[in-house]
Amino acid sequence: MISDQVLWASLPVPAFIIDPEDRIADVNSSGEGFLNASRKSVVGHPVWDQIAVDAPLEEAFTRARAQGTPLFVNDVDVGSGNRAPLQCALQIAPLLGHPGSMIMIVSPRELASRMTRGNTVKSAAQSAIGMAEMLAHEIKNPLAGITGAAQLLSMNIGPQDLELTDLIVAESRRIVKLLEQVEQFGNLSRPEFKPVNIHDVLDRARRSALLGFGADMTIIEDYDPSLPLAYGDPDQLLQVVLNLLKNASEAAGPEGGTIRLHTYFEHSFRLRRSDGSGHSLPLQIEIIDDGPGLPEDIRSDIFDPFVSGKENGTGLGLALVSKIVSDHDGWITAESVPGRTVFRLSLRRAPREARPDKE
Ligand SMILES: Nc1ncnc2c1ncn2[C@@H]1O[C@H](COP(=O)(O)OP(=O)(O)OP(=O)(O)O)[C@@H](O)[C@H]1O
Ligand SMILES: [Mg+2]
Repeated sequence: MISDQVLWASLPVPAFIIDPEDRIADVNSSGEGFLNASRKSVVGHPVWDQIAVDAPLEEAFTRARAQGTPLFVNDVDVGSGNRAPLQCALQIAPLLGHPGSMIMIVSPRELASRMTRGNTVKSAAQSAIGMAEMLAHEIKNPLAGITGAAQLLSMNIGPQDLELTDLIVAESRRIVKLLEQVEQFGNLSRPEFKPVNIHDVLDRARRSALLGFGADMTIIEDYDPSLPLAYGDPDQLLQVVLNLLKNASEAAGPEGGTIRLHTYFEHSFRLRRSDGSGHSLPLQIEIIDDGPGLPEDIRSDIFDPFVSGKENGTGLGLALVSKIVSDHDGWITAESVPGRTVFRLSLRRAPREARPDKE
C-alpha cells in the first residue's frame, strides 16, 4: 500500500487542504510551485489571500462544505503572487474524516488558445526603451539635415532621380515618426489619479476613432450603466483605449469590422503581488473585435516594445498601453482566436473619499 504522503507529494497538479476556517492546512509540492512559496510560509494563512479566484466562489464553496458535496468550477482565472492569472479548473471536495475541511485541486488549462500576460514592461525591455529614447534624441537632428539635403537635391535633378530623393524623404519621415513614438515613453508622466467615468473615456475614444483611423468600423457600446467610477488619469486611459481601437481597426483591413466596447463589474477580481499586498480591480473594460486575431508567432510578446506584426508598425502601441496600465496598478490581458480578439482591462474603483458625491 502506497502511503498518503507519497501520493500527496506525487500529485502532478497543485493541491491544497483547506481547514474549516478557510486557512491552508497543507499544500503539495506542485502547489508550492504554483504559489511560488514554501509550504511553511503559507500553511495557516487564509487561502483566498494566497489564491485569487476570478469568480464569485464563496457561496458555492460554503454550500459544498455544508452539504459535504464536491464542487467543480471550470474556466476561472486563478492568480497567485504577482504572476498573471492562469485559466484553471478547480476541483473541490470534502476531506473524508475531517469535517469542514476541503481538498482543492487546481488544474491550469493549457495555454493553447489563450494568452495571458503580466502587465509590467519587463526590465530588460524597459532599459531598451531608455536606450532608444536617448538615441531618438540624437538621431533627430542629423535626420533633419539629411531630409533637407535631399529636398535641395531634388530641385536640380531629372525626374528619374527624383524617385530616389523622394524615397530618402519618405523613409526619413518614417524614422522621425518612430522616434517620436519612442519619445512618448519618456514623456509619460505618473498618472494624475482622479475619479473617472470610464464610459466618458470610451465615448471620446469611440468618436475620435470613427472620425479617423476607425472610419470603416462599427463600434458597439455594451455598457453596464451602474458601473462605478474608476480611479485613474483620464487622458492616459484615453490613450490606452485609442491604441486598442487603432489596433483593432488595423487588424480588420479595408472592409472594416465590428468592435464591441463591453464594460462590467466584477467584484471578485483581485490583483495580488508577491509581497502580499493586493487590491481589488472590479471595473472590467473589454475591447472585442472580430478581426483575424493575434498573429501566432508574436502572440506571447505583443506587450513588449518593438514587437509588431505589421509592415510599418513600430510595436510601441501595446508597450505604451502596458506601461500606463501598470502605472495605474491595473491589469490587462489579451485573448484571441480568429474572429474574436478580446483585450480586457481591469481597473480600480475610485476610493470613497475621492468620489465627488461620496456615494
Ligand atoms: N486587435 C488585434 N487584432 C490582431 N492583432 C493585433 C491586435 N492588436 C494587436 N495586434 C498585433 O500586435 C502587434 C503589436 O501591437 P502594437 O500596438 O504594440 O504595435 P503596432 O500596432 O504594430 O505598432 P504601433 O502601435 O506602434 O503603430 C500588432 O502589430 C498586431 O500584429
Ligand atoms: Mg498599435
